[in-house]
Amino acid sequence: MTAKQWLTHNASGSRRVIVTKELPGERWLRRLAEADCAVEVCMSSDILSTQEIVAAVGGRCDGAIGQLTETWGRELFEALKAAGGTAYSNYAVGYNNVDVAAATELGIPVGNTPGVLTETTAQLAVALTFAAARRIAEADAFMRAGRFHGWLPTLFLGELLWRKTVGIIGAGRIGSAYARMMVEGHKMNLIYYDIQRNAALEQYVADHAEFLSQHGEQPVTCTRAASVEQVFAEADVLSLHPPLDATTHHLVNAQRLALMKPNAILVNTSRGPVVDEAALVEHLRAHPEFRAGLDVYEDEPAMKPGLAEQPNAVIVPHIASATSWTREGMATLAATNVSAILLGYPVWQKADISPFLGDDPSTPLRAGPPRAAPSIVNAKELKLPSFQG
Ligand code: DGY
Repeated sequence: MTAKQWLTHNASGSRRVIVTKELPGERWLRRLAEADCAVEVCMSSDILSTQEIVAAVGGRCDGAIGQLTETWGRELFEALKAAGGTAYSNYAVGYNNVDVAAATELGIPVGNTPGVLTETTAQLAVALTFAAARRIAEADAFMRAGRFHGWLPTLFLGELLWRKTVGIIGAGRIGSAYARMMVEGHKMNLIYYDIQRNAALEQYVADHAEFLSQHGEQPVTCTRAASVEQVFAEADVLSLHPPLDATTHHLVNAQRLALMKPNAILVNTSRGPVVDEAALVEHLRAHPEFRAGLDVYEDEPAMKPGLAEQPNAVIVPHIASATSWTREGMATLAATNVSAILLGYPVWQKADISPFLGDDPSTPLRAGPPRAAPSIVNAKELKLPSFQG
């Protein structure tokens, strides 16, 4: 294990915060400097081991910002606690890499970064959907190989999704945003599965159906499926948006893939282990008309054997949230989670986090961000006070 280079910002700060990867933008550094934090950033792109992070925490550390590629388990939270640490934020909206129960037991608030990834991630899911449906990656490779010798009636025939059925599993923020893009943009009927009913999404589709009727067009429909299997069976394109936990691990397996239409499309921008990737490779092999658009992988960064050779899979390296605006916003939210907890601020309760970004025109920048931590996932368990405002 080679020693990693760390860069310190605001070295004179009285508090010490470690950040395990370089983050984009400057605003997040200002947030931590305003809270009098010296910020030590690991400059290596290698994924840090638990031992390396324990060493970085050292004998005194007030807070940490970590990555979804690291396992923030009991060992790390115990090290942080022993070093006097009182705040952690994941640089991600998902936090399946964090042992929240252990952090809670040790009294450490855990932050995440919702609200800035919603449309960004949904757009990538849409991009993967159409890249798969219209065979963009295959056609791109064909062009680059100099194999295009003239227009042909049968060249790269794909799937038309217009007015077909879009399925989603997980109708939270990102799943709903994807569903709305597909329903509105491509006039698709929606079928969704979620343990909780999403009345707002249902109303949105109903309102859009009404709008279409008023314009003399066939309305769209929204069905809340009674079972996951119903979505697999009915969807022409199925996009996955559940959180990863014990109940969603291998939610997509060989049995459920077998329920899908032979020319359906499966899109995953959630977490790799939601899909039994070996079963998916087999399914792609056996059904050349079936397509997949994948952003995440079961053993990330590795792929299961055979996936890379499947022409009917479009594969990208976990980039669903990769726009400058989103990644800078995630950095700002993660830094504000840590700085706010260190300053003893309460926890923000609204879904709208734009006041923390200075992007909300109703919040003058001069007023600064709200004196609150934007998103702390174990706030209730730790009985942290709520922001009143
Ligand atoms: C997240 O934030 O959970 C995403 O996977 C990062 O893109």
